[in-house]
Amino acid sequence: MPLRLSHTSYADLLLGISIWRLVSKVQAFTRRDYFVGKGVAMTTSVCVGTVFALMLISTLVLAQTRLSPIDKGERIYQRNCLRCHGAALDGKGSDASSLTVPPTNFHTYLSRLKDDIEFEKTIKQGKRFIGMHNWEDTLTDEQVRDLITYIRSAAPHMKVKP
Ligand code: HEC
Repeated sequence: MPLRLSHTSYADLLLGISIWRLVSKVQAFTRRDYFVGKGVAMTTSVCVGTVFALMLISTLVLAQTRLSPIDKGERIYQRNCLRCHGAALDGKGSDASSLTVPPTNFHTYLSRLKDDIEFEKTIKQGKRFIGMHNWEDTLTDEQVRDLITYIRSAAPHMKVKP
């Protein structure tokens, strides 16, 4: 799996690096003064070093698991929706040609006019007698929200004045 970093993960990494640098300074300090016995200083620095190495590793692991809503939505989309709605969200997925009613192209004016509540309703309840299933039992509320966030990032909602 490629390493994917969201904005929050970068913040984590930067925090990790600055803590690490601070610790190196503390290590240098303990080596110089207070601890007379060299052994004590060595043990302290090895312990502190190990703890922070572990922290840095866990930060990296967390960075991989903590994805932004758009990234999470994209993954769910690729798994469930792409075959009909297409990789470019243009309704040209591989299964589209077998359907009588073509899957929505999310870039169209009419689709972009629909608000999030309408999208949520269609995703959860589906559309009767055409290809769009209901996903209420398969996806959680949060997953549906992430999906809408992802679709909106590629095809933003268009508000019109009444
Ligand atoms: C088997 C094909 C198929 C799959 C899989 C599928 N859809 Fe659809 N989808 C359709 C069809 C067909 C329509 C209806 C088009 C119409 O009414 O003109 C539709 C309509 C929609 C609409 C309404 C859009 C609008 O502007 O009215 C949304 C939102 C939507 N799908 C989201 C999803 C999401 C999210 C997934 C994945 C969880 C998904 N669809 C999976 C075929 C599919």
